[in-house]
Amino acid sequence: MTTETTTTPHHLPGGDTVRVEIDDDHGIGWVYFNRPEKRNAMNPKLNFEMFEVLDALEGEDRVKVVVLTGTGAAWSAGMDLKEYFRETDGKPRWVQHRVRGQGTNWQHRKLLNYPKPTIAMVNGWCFGGAFIPLVACDLAIASVDAQFGLSEVNWGVTPGNLVTRALAEVIPTRDAMYHIMTGKPFDGRKAEQMRLVNEAVPAEQLRERTIEIAGELSSLSQWVVHGTKMGFRHSRLMSWEAAEDFLYAKHDQAILFDEQARAKGMQGFLDDKTYRPGLGTHEG
Ligand code: COA
Repeated sequence: MTTETTTTPHHLPGGDTVRVEIDDDHGIGWVYFNRPEKRNAMNPKLNFEMFEVLDALEGEDRVKVVVLTGTGAAWSAGMDLKEYFRETDGKPRWVQHRVRGQGTNWQHRKLLNYPKPTIAMVNGWCFGGAFIPLVACDLAIASVDAQFGLSEVNWGVTPGNLVTRALAEVIPTRDAMYHIMTGKPFDGRKAEQMRLVNEAVPAEQLRERTIEIAGELSSLSQWVVHGTKMGFRHSRLMSWEAAEDFLYAKHDQAILFDEQARAKGMQGFLDDKTYRPGLGTHEG
């Protein structure tokens, strides 16, 4: 068991539906879906609080990596069928539009473009709408016995919001079509095989492995990691010419914001001969 010190930052927003802890030992902002009694289904309140928490952690210096996970048996059972759907059904169209917007505000607008590295640590159930934040995180580690499912067809709707679009981003067409059309659930091992997650590990190793990967990210220059991530996310939607311009701009931004990283990197290899960049990063 790890013994890191965690502090709940009182100055950060959050509330009962989202729990947040800052782990100073590892530079991790742990963000929990926190409605375990409802299997962490995302209701309008959670969507609102999640946006506020992620927004606040963006400006929190102590947080180098954000890990999104769930309290209890679920990562998230998707959108809340009662509060998100049934209770907004009879409301005016603009209210429904706003409620939907609060979901997408954090699930993809905020998370997909999050300036810091993000890891989905999938500890349990993951259904429907939960696939959007899952795919929007940069990396995903699952417990082998986590259960995933595109269950929309099972309750009589097509996958709403960006679920289908998100799936198409990461998993092969045959797997995606099978699971969205049949609604058949699958486990963490299968999620790893279809590359929905980077790795599936036994439940008892999940946290430790996530911390290890977060450590690999936080040991690097934060601005270099930021530029690399944004470069990959955005450039593949651009023409080669626009991508060249954008990628050089991110490259130069990283040097501008962290001048030491490149200088130290080159000095250690070319002058001091203390490390080989092909095999790992330099110390300090
Ligand atoms: N929306 C609203 N409520 C949900 C929910 C969801 N997506 N998922 C679970 N809950 C609620 C249940 O209604 C129940 O509430 P209650 O205690 O007031 O009756 C509570 O959470 C516990 O759910 P339960 O089904 O008893 O838990 P379980 O551990 O036996 O099963 C699941 C867990 C996740 C397999 C099951 O709850 C489920 O299939 N949920 C729906 C998943 C889904 O299709 N999501 C897609 C939405 S886009």
